[in-house]
Amino acid sequence: MDESLKNKVAFITGAATGIGKETALLLAKHGAKIMIADINEIEGRATTKTINDSGGIAYFYKLDTSIKKDVAKVLDSIFKEHGSIELAVNNAGIGGLVGSLHTIEEPTWERMISVCLSGVFYCMQEELKHMISNKSGKIVNVSSLAGLNGVRNGSHYSAAKHGVIGLTKSAAIEYGGLNIRVNSVCPGFIQTAILDDVPEKSLEFVKNLRVPMRRIGNTIEVAESILWLLSEKSSFVNGEGLLIDGGFQAG
Ligand SMILES: NC(=O)c1ccc[n+]([C@@H]2O[C@H](COP(=O)([O-])OP(=O)(O)OC[C@H]3O[C@@H](n4cnc5c(N)ncnc54)[C@H](O)[C@@H]3O)[C@@H](O)[C@H]2O)c1
Repeated sequence: MDESLKNKVAFITGAATGIGKETALLLAKHGAKIMIADINEIEGRATTKTINDSGGIAYFYKLDTSIKKDVAKVLDSIFKEHGSIELAVNNAGIGGLVGSLHTIEEPTWERMISVCLSGVFYCMQEELKHMISNKSGKIVNVSSLAGLNGVRNGSHYSAAKHGVIGLTKSAAIEYGGLNIRVNSVCPGFIQTAILDDVPEKSLEFVKNLRVPMRRIGNTIEVAESILWLLSEKSSFVNGEGLLIDGGFQAG
């Protein structure tokens, strides 16, 4: 049990499934009060119930993170009901290998940027306001290996995830002096529904020839890294983009 997380209010977007869900379950085990915000109400409520049934504390908020006024409304009500927002994981995202850059239609581009980049920006704005008033906070944004590299047929995703790294580093500089740390994680290929878009042949290539550890990662391996960045164990880590990719990026 990491005592530094106990009773802390933790806001996690996209925690209905995948990496966000695993992170919510793990933080709950360490005693954090979990605020799940997701567009998927059925799975979001299921995650919330799992936590509450196993003795943790969780609340569900239906939210599309790409709508600025709704983000503000949800974070304001969490702040009013729970008195603080000390930990935040901006994880909600969509995938999409749709085709070469010149073929990507405007609505596809707009949706990707609004969910994977603007959504993170809107959440950070509201989280930071509350963290500043509390004089403390930790934010972890979920970027990607695609935030460091280009993605064939996914330039819109890569652009959004590069943007998340820019937001993370800028906020780390602006708020580091206010006892607020902002970091990101950059997962490689992790077994979740987002990989459904990736052709089996490409995944086999990645596993066998690109990842030195010869496998796809698990959600718990990302959740543990997020937990570390939110805990006091990483107390001097700020502005970092932590790769969790089995060595993909190493060469
Ligand atoms: N799985 C991977 O290989 C991988 C690699 C790198 C980065 N990521 C990132 O990890 C994050 C989580 O993805 P995942 O792999 O767990 O996939 P996932 O599809 O299981 O999870 C995404 C979650 O985000 C929610 N969501 C989507 N749009 C939303 C919106 N507008 N508002 C609120 N919630 C919304 C979904 O309902 C879902 O619960 C994403 O940001 C993704 O880009 C995943």
